[in-house]
Amino acid sequence: MDNIEKISAEIEAFKVNAAADLENFRLKFLSKKSELQSLLGEIKNVPVEQRKLFGQQVNELKQKAQAIFEEQKQRLEDAAPVQGNLSDVTRPATAVSLGSRHPISIMMDEVCGIFEKIGFSTVAGPDIEDDWHIFTALNFPEEHPARDMQDTFFIDQKPDVALRTHTSTLQVRTMETHQPPIRVICPGRVFRNEAITSRAHCIFHQMEGLYIDENVSFADMKQTLMYFAKQMFGENTRIRLRPSYFPFTEPSAEMDVSCNICGGEGCALCKHTGWVEILGCGMVDPNVLENCGIDSKKYSGFAFGLGIERMTMLKYKTNDIRLYFENDVRFLEQFTAAKL
Ligand code: PHE
Repeated sequence: MDNIEKISAEIEAFKVNAAADLENFRLKFLSKKSELQSLLGEIKNVPVEQRKLFGQQVNELKQKAQAIFEEQKQRLEDAAPVQGNLSDVTRPATAVSLGSRHPISIMMDEVCGIFEKIGFSTVAGPDIEDDWHIFTALNFPEEHPARDMQDTFFIDQKPDVALRTHTSTLQVRTMETHQPPIRVICPGRVFRNEAITSRAHCIFHQMEGLYIDENVSFADMKQTLMYFAKQMFGENTRIRLRPSYFPFTEPSAEMDVSCNICGGEGCALCKHTGWVEILGCGMVDPNVLENCGIDSKKYSGFAFGLGIERMTMLKYKTNDIRLYFENDVRFLEQFTAAKL
């Protein structure tokens, strides 16, 4: 009888912490070799008149042990983390943040779109190029200082191979494979060995254009670029051309647009001149036409090249080119095609 009380106290005090506790409890009180079972075996030593009571009490104890076992087992299961594929459909959903298009891609598409409207088609080509397509075909004589105009990343093992410094390479590729009339724009990534600052980067994007046909004149170029400037920066935009030099065009010019921030009044962005430079251009040098297999007596044409980052900075009034490469979503998500 004393034992019954002791065991009863022990059973009541049982609190499960781990699965092992439960198993120990089961072995101790519920299995065939449990203490309760051996207590029942003692019945023969109990005086006859007390046997009934003894048996009843041991049975009650067994039931109590079983009930406590179930209860503690439930507690253990409730505390365990949910496993498998169970999902709580009532939980509020986690917000999924949507990506946005990169401002450089948006701008590339916009510039391509403007030229596509007047019959230019878009061409693409390799970032890694040979000397011929970057320089020689474009009338940069070997050892000529003009090659220093663009600080080039060369590849040590192969002096003939370099990362393209401009997408004029695609003008060469197009002329080598097509006869006039040619009207193409060539967007792409370019590389220059330059220190990274708020205004310059060693990787950026360019868009070059090429127009070759019979009787193409400087005036055609000017009209085309004026159309572009107005489409891009608004109807009131004015342009001006300043004489310049590129080995592959003659004559060459640089084009400025009236500052779209101050409207030409003068501000920090245009350095108080009212004008911002946006592209280089010129009439394709006859040497270049001949290098690419086009008859320079019959055909003439113009080419131009602009920096996409610069265009984007102007249009969105950002003052640090590095922002376009850091890919901080807080910056990127401000540009959506819808806002254009
Ligand atoms: N390729 C020149 C550059 O990268 C730009 C340019 C293109 C100038 C076509 C004139 C004509 O700076």
